[in-house]
Amino acid sequence: MTETGAPSPRTFAPAGPLRGTLRVPGDKSISHRAVMLGALAIGETRVTGLLEGEDVMATAAAMRAMGAQVEKRGDEWRIHGVGVGGLLQPHAALEMGNSGTSTRLLMGLLASHAITAAFTGDASLSKRPMGRVIEPLSRIGASFTPSPGGTLPLMMTGASVPVPIEYRLPVASAQVKSAVLLAGLNTAGITTVVEPVATRDHSERMLRGFGAELTVEEVGGERVIRVRGEADLRPQTIEVPGDPSSAAFFIVAATLIEGSDLTIENVGLNPTRAGLIDVLRRMGATIEELDPREVGGEPVADLRVRHAPLTGIEVDPALAPSMIDEFPILFVAAALANGRTVTRGLDELRVKESDRLSAMAAALTAAGARVEETPDGLIIDGSAGEPLRGTSNARVKTHLDHRIAMSMAIAGLVSRDGIDIDDTRPIATSFPAFTTLLDQATQ
Ligand code: S3P
Repeated sequence: MTETGAPSPRTFAPAGPLRGTLRVPGDKSISHRAVMLGALAIGETRVTGLLEGEDVMATAAAMRAMGAQVEKRGDEWRIHGVGVGGLLQPHAALEMGNSGTSTRLLMGLLASHAITAAFTGDASLSKRPMGRVIEPLSRIGASFTPSPGGTLPLMMTGASVPVPIEYRLPVASAQVKSAVLLAGLNTAGITTVVEPVATRDHSERMLRGFGAELTVEEVGGERVIRVRGEADLRPQTIEVPGDPSSAAFFIVAATLIEGSDLTIENVGLNPTRAGLIDVLRRMGATIEELDPREVGGEPVADLRVRHAPLTGIEVDPALAPSMIDEFPILFVAAALANGRTVTRGLDELRVKESDRLSAMAAALTAAGARVEETPDGLIIDGSAGEPLRGTSNARVKTHLDHRIAMSMAIAGLVSRDGIDIDDTRPIATSFPAFTTLLDQATQ
């Protein structure tokens, strides 16, 4: 996030119900990939529905700095790529802002191009581990000089003769998987990633869409993904579906607030992303999928969400990768549910834009919820629908984390005294129109 200027605090007061119809912006993961692959295809890629948040704009700026044309004409983004292998040496550091996805995926792309680049980021991104991509990309032949602890700022030089590797993911991470696959695009031979636990598969879908030779095989419960290098990518016309991770805030708000009946149009429902909807339904939520269809090679539907009382549950840790970004808002839902919600196996949440376990435990506790933090999850005893007390004189700390800010904004709607948030600026990384849409839906 751009840390210029003063923080922008705001109080989110009790409000609602949520009614009517709205659209959330384009999927962040798909938007990053559309810009990157468009920038590697020769010819014009056209993208509609691109998320224009700061994170995706950081990816666009980096691709421009390496020779691609990325520009907006009317409602459409037009990208003229340089061809696989054609990225140019950037003349200045690649400024990644708050965006882990831009950083890790671009490190993958650069690893098989013989160019040197520096990556810098904001205070949040500069704490996040890069060793998880440095390790496989070094095996491909790239070299790295990170800051102590394996973080940004870092310098890297891609391999002049990249080596195809077979890499078994030690952490369930779509970013690491994608970094290796993108490096494989400009590596002669076959690059293989073995995924013991399935993570979001947007890279695989979009690489195929652009014409890369990519296969996915299930072997003994693991996914084996192979991509053939020296690929020729063909420009595409892409419609980016709405981001389920952004819709999540409105789904939970409409579920929690009595009298709500909200339709969220055009929400991406890729099964590798739809875990929150499953979990909320198991807790008692009423979420209907209307007009299921395909958009941009991804399953999509309109979601009609009506208020329903929730019951606490034990969340199966196996669902975590399919809702990894939705835990902060699930914790808000759990804080209002009837009974106890137990989450486990969430170590990865400690290395997101903030340590989301401790940030949400502190924020919800400050708002009057009953929360216990464990090493790998939260245990929450819900209020059975009673509003949270709210924060009358303490400001909730969002730690430069957009999802903490948006989750606690929703918690404010279901509080008695409102919730004060220290800084709403990070919301612009993924969902610039969030507060406007929220104000509209609750009018
Ligand atoms: C993303 C993967 C996830 C997710 C992030 C976006 C992606 O990160 O948290 O918001 O676009 O590949 P990890 O790969 O670190 O789990």
